[in-house]
Amino acid sequence: MPQTKPSLRSRLWWDNAGNPEMTALYLERFLNFGLTAKELQSGRPIIGIAQTGSDLVPCNRHHLALADRVRAGVRDAGGIPLEFPVHPLQETGKRPTAALDRNLAYLGLVEVLYGYPLDGVVLTTGCDKTTPACLMAAATVNIPAIVLSGGPMLNGYHHGERTGASGSGLVIWQSKRLLAAGEICPDEFMERVAASAPSIGHCNTMGTALSMNCLAEALGMSLPGCAAIPAPYRRRAQMAYETGRRAVALVQEDLTPRKIMTLAAFENAIAVASAIAASTNAPIHINAIARHTGVPLSIQDWQRVGADIPVLANVAPAGEFLGEDFYRAGGVPAVMWSLLTAGHLHGDAMTVSGHTVAGNLAEAPPTDPTVIRPCDDPLAARGGLLVMTGNLFDSAVMKTSVLAGDARPVREYRAVVFDGPEDYHARIDDPGLGLDEDCILVIRYTGPIGYPGSAEVVNMEVPAALLQRGVATLPTLGDGRQSGTSDAPSILNASPEAAAGGNLAILRTGDRVRVDLDGARVDLLLPDEEIAARWAAYTPPPLDHQTPWQEIYRSTVGQLDGGGCMELALAYQDLVHTKGVPRDSH
Ligand code: FES
Ligand code: MG
Repeated sequence: MPQTKPSLRSRLWWDNAGNPEMTALYLERFLNFGLTAKELQSGRPIIGIAQTGSDLVPCNRHHLALADRVRAGVRDAGGIPLEFPVHPLQETGKRPTAALDRNLAYLGLVEVLYGYPLDGVVLTTGCDKTTPACLMAAATVNIPAIVLSGGPMLNGYHHGERTGASGSGLVIWQSKRLLAAGEICPDEFMERVAASAPSIGHCNTMGTALSMNCLAEALGMSLPGCAAIPAPYRRRAQMAYETGRRAVALVQEDLTPRKIMTLAAFENAIAVASAIAASTNAPIHINAIARHTGVPLSIQDWQRVGADIPVLANVAPAGEFLGEDFYRAGGVPAVMWSLLTAGHLHGDAMTVSGHTVAGNLAEAPPTDPTVIRPCDDPLAARGGLLVMTGNLFDSAVMKTSVLAGDARPVREYRAVVFDGPEDYHARIDDPGLGLDEDCILVIRYTGPIGYPGSAEVVNMEVPAALLQRGVATLPTLGDGRQSGTSDAPSILNASPEAAAGGNLAILRTGDRVRVDLDGARVDLLLPDEEIAARWAAYTPPPLDHQTPWQEIYRSTVGQLDGGGCMELALAYQDLVHTKGVPRDSH
């Protein structure tokens, strides 16, 4: 039995010697399902299991079963598990966006972790926003925390063919093009999309879900090897058990998130993000986690740290394989081993295993160089993000790993501007737009305030008429996001967004826009006086709040370059050490 640590905050509920009445009040309700006062007062750490799975979050639903193995691990290590729900966050099902709810789940989890008798927490993660919401909250409260990823789905197959370069998410973008070109019918479209999701688990391409779980591991917040284990594998349930065990030790060692998520850890995460060609949503979420951890990290750091890191993971959408192959090839430890030996990682960063990054990688993990390429034979010499600026926004990003070739001439385009996806769908087939190879498609009012929540709509498809002429894509630009599973070279996450006063708001169809990839600039070719005159005549479109949370969210959300955080929440840091314990409830 672990020694009793007087510092356990749960004892201020269960065993408050100075206040036996409150102790009884706090204890009695927890006894009604069979716990005993003796066990709750035994000085054993209380480990929360933050449950993100439910029928509304199919990507994480198997965490409901995995929690049994977490509980067993917690018990075997001498702790007591208490499972509780996290506000549902499912990427494809939540309207208008799951991004709107990331900050709501964060807020809810902060209240739970801070206001209940919890000494540590296992964060169950998977679908895109569940991972950042959990880590943001753990950082704010700063009780010992450990991530248990749910793992990707198995590989999908369609007509005997491994979905390979398509896979969940990505298959949708490819099939949409085929549907638009009239090459497949709607039934075939549905069949292809469903075939890409053959089992429990989250998306199995290097979309936002797998990216964020890999980066949680790179940050040191999950046990080594956790992120890539496919959801149905036995190893996943064993990892759940080991994670539960380790959660108890984290409390005994007082190894809190702020001791792990240091600047060095965030730089490791950025390096790994480049090496796995992570989702363009990764900088948003990682920057949000950093800000809630009190670590100064900016969007420019992504280029500083990540631009020269080679792409190693040959996983869709940048490469050809899927999550199951990535796991068999060694997953995140194999990637981190290559980066560490090439001098790209901080080996001394601490992790939840109790060992440093270098300590976790004492031996080379077995790997498969076709799936995880070595640093001297990478998939692409430079991964990472191009962080762009100019007179249309302070910052926007572009995923460089999907750019073919090295020639990046400066080009001017004619802007064709859409006010949100409804406008785009209504007008994209209009011949009057005069679309040709010299156009750039621009979408605005799709950022955190505008949408609200920022929508994955920047990767706009070209109309069927253009496809039939052999023009498969046009450059796109916008203040929204794009799916992490999209392979489009969009210029996205433009900050500030149109609804926050960014110059995208005064852009008009027909304006000339210059894109300079080498100079990392996008500029509207208009004199400053004309830009000022347009602002003088500008009336912002009204914001239609459909729910109370939308109004609250819009009143406090920051821009995507700063993580789209609830800005007022950033004043609340390290709650258990700066705020103590909340008042008694009665
Ligand atoms: Fe949930 Fe992709 S939609 S993981
Ligand atoms: Mg997405």
